[in-house]
Amino acid sequence: MFFLFLLICLGVAFRFASYYGDHMVLQKKPAGAVVWGYGEAGVNVTVSLSKDGKVIMKKMAQVKEHSETWKVVLAPMDHGGPYSVMAEQHSREEPKNLTLRDIYFGDVWLCSGQSNMEMTVSQIINASVELSKAPLYPYVRVFAASLIQSEVELQDLAKIDLEWSIPTAENLGHGSFSYFSAVCWLFGRHLYETLRYPVGLVESSWGGTCIEAWSSGRALQECGPTPNGSPPLALCIQPARNRSSDCPPFLLPTLLSGPKMPSVLWDAMIHPLLNMSLTGVIWYQGESNAFTNTDLYNCTFPALIADWRRAFHAGSDGQTQPLFPFGFVQLSTFRRQRRDDRFPRLRWHQTADYGYAPNKRMPNTFMAVALDLCDEHSPYGSIHPRDKQNVAYRLHLGARAVAYGEKGLVFQGPYPTKVVVDGARALVNVTYGQELLLLLMHDRVFEVCCSRRAQEPCQWVPAPMVSASSHTVTLSSPGCRAAVSRLRYAWADWPCEYRMCPLYNKHLLPAPPFVIDSLH
Ligand SMILES: *[C@@H]1O[C@H](CO)[C@@H](O)[C@H](O)[C@H]1NC(C)=O
Ligand SMILES: *[C@@H]1O[C@H](CO)[C@@H](O)[C@H](O)[C@H]1NC(C)=O
Ligand SMILES: *[C@@H]1O[C@H](CO)[C@@H](O)[C@H](O)[C@H]1NC(C)=O
Ligand SMILES: *[C@@H]1O[C@H](CO)[C@@H](O)[C@H](O)[C@H]1NC(C)=O
Ligand SMILES: *[C@@H]1O[C@H](CO)[C@@H](O)[C@H](O)[C@H]1NC(C)=O
Ligand SMILES: *[C@@H]1O[C@H](CO)[C@@H](O)[C@H](O)[C@H]1NC(C)=O
Ligand SMILES: *[C@@H]1O[C@H](CO)[C@@H](O)[C@H](O)[C@H]1NC(C)=O
Repeated sequence: MFFLFLLICLGVAFRFASYYGDHMVLQKKPAGAVVWGYGEAGVNVTVSLSKDGKVIMKKMAQVKEHSETWKVVLAPMDHGGPYSVMAEQHSREEPKNLTLRDIYFGDVWLCSGQSNMEMTVSQIINASVELSKAPLYPYVRVFAASLIQSEVELQDLAKIDLEWSIPTAENLGHGSFSYFSAVCWLFGRHLYETLRYPVGLVESSWGGTCIEAWSSGRALQECGPTPNGSPPLALCIQPARNRSSDCPPFLLPTLLSGPKMPSVLWDAMIHPLLNMSLTGVIWYQGESNAFTNTDLYNCTFPALIADWRRAFHAGSDGQTQPLFPFGFVQLSTFRRQRRDDRFPRLRWHQTADYGYAPNKRMPNTFMAVALDLCDEHSPYGSIHPRDKQNVAYRLHLGARAVAYGEKGLVFQGPYPTKVVVDGARALVNVTYGQELLLLLMHDRVFEVCCSRRAQEPCQWVPAPMVSASSHTVTLSSPGCRAAVSRLRYAWADWPCEYRMCPLYNKHLLPAPPFVIDSLH
């Protein structure tokens, strides 16, 4: 009772927002880092930045009346540190100073998605070696939000799993599917090797969740409403049809375990972070949407990216770039035996049906292809492959090329630029834009569809690879000849064995799956 009374008397306690803490990385220039917190309505707050005990910058803000928050944008800072950040409340009743110590300026990346993002460093291949390397990266700092859902947009994180920390073997491996994310960590580590300046990693992910839960109402509106206005889109509900026939029962809990209501994770785990300045986002999600709203993903995913960009830009007072880089992992593999096309369709929709990223609908994005990283005997189920090293490596190449503008860096696998149907000889020549590294010839990985006219329904049949040159693969299409109307590659849940898809480039980046619908 007394405590409650005190709180009412003093108003909101003077403090930093939840995700400001010792050891954190603040976004470096050209952005200014946003720093915000709570205080007594109307009072002035001074935020000062010091190095070696000397104040080098001061910013002033007034606590807003109705939200009881204050916010400053620091002048853009070069990378480096350590600094301390002091906030001082100028109040007659309750003057107070707060200090954050061991603060560095560098690049901040947000890591979000479902269980393959959540998988911790202790769950992956060579876990003990990776964990033992933690002390080599004291300037890659980590922070993890707790799993919270909400039906209203929260201003701040309700709970934190891992406060800003210097990495250790312990805080990179809190059991299974908790924190810290292996993909996020390995990505940050690779970036640090290139950038040689501090990297801050913010994990906010939750297993078994579909994209609708991470999308704002605004973003979902873009992909709906349905023609007659209702019901509204977005329902991340379990598919109506018999699920158990799609998915081994023991895996259902992981696939659909998370919150299913639209926007509830946007509200609680993303919206609160909008007020920080950051460099970009990486995203590993989609498995759940292979089982719900699959054919909307080519809308919901680009809409989420665009909406997050708008919102992070606005929330940071324009400091986070309006078109900040957004990287994602294309789905790996799940069911070796299944012939349904849920995974290939979702992979395709992850690229807004272009097959590669960036593309016209998804500018400034980059993609790590992972369909060759299967792991049938993963103790966490085959949907959770343990090779996250290659995932993170491929993702960081995309970041270097797209986010950091490294010229000439190859970050995409080979993609076809031309398809020629040689009807007379029943051959199809597929020409790629990059020199191919052919690992093996395969009878079924390419398929063609035969029909006399475009749009006519047709039957997919394997088109065996018969020969290949540096840029061209020749397929045979017996029984199809000039009637080849469609062509696809690796259009299967589990198209090849571990790192043994037929086509790579010389950097060992796999050719992404594709489908071409109009060869006529
Ligand atoms: C806050 O600072 C402004 C000037 O920056 C000053 O005019 C105002 O009186 C101050 N308010 C309080 C409550 O100290
Ligand atoms: C806060 O810091 C300022 C400047 O360093 C100092 O003058 C002031 O006494 C401090 N206030 C409190 C409450 O510690
Ligand atoms: C669902 O699938 C299971 C296993 O394949 C089957 O036994 C059951 O009859 C199916 N239920 C319905 C309603 O189709
Ligand atoms: C998404 O894919 C579905 C199914 O292939 C297609 O009908 C729809 O037009 C596509 N939507 C967009 C926005 O590309
Ligand atoms: C954070 O950003 C949101 C969204 O732009 C905004 O509504 C809110 O006022 C901001 N919070 C602070 C403390 O500035
Ligand atoms: C695991 O470690 C072995 C031995 O050093 C190495 O050959 C292998 O490539 C590592 N696997 C991954 C996925 O990094
Ligand atoms: C297709 O490729 C084969 C083998 O490289 C070649 O002999 C043939 O002329 C090509 N056909 C066309 C129409 O380009």
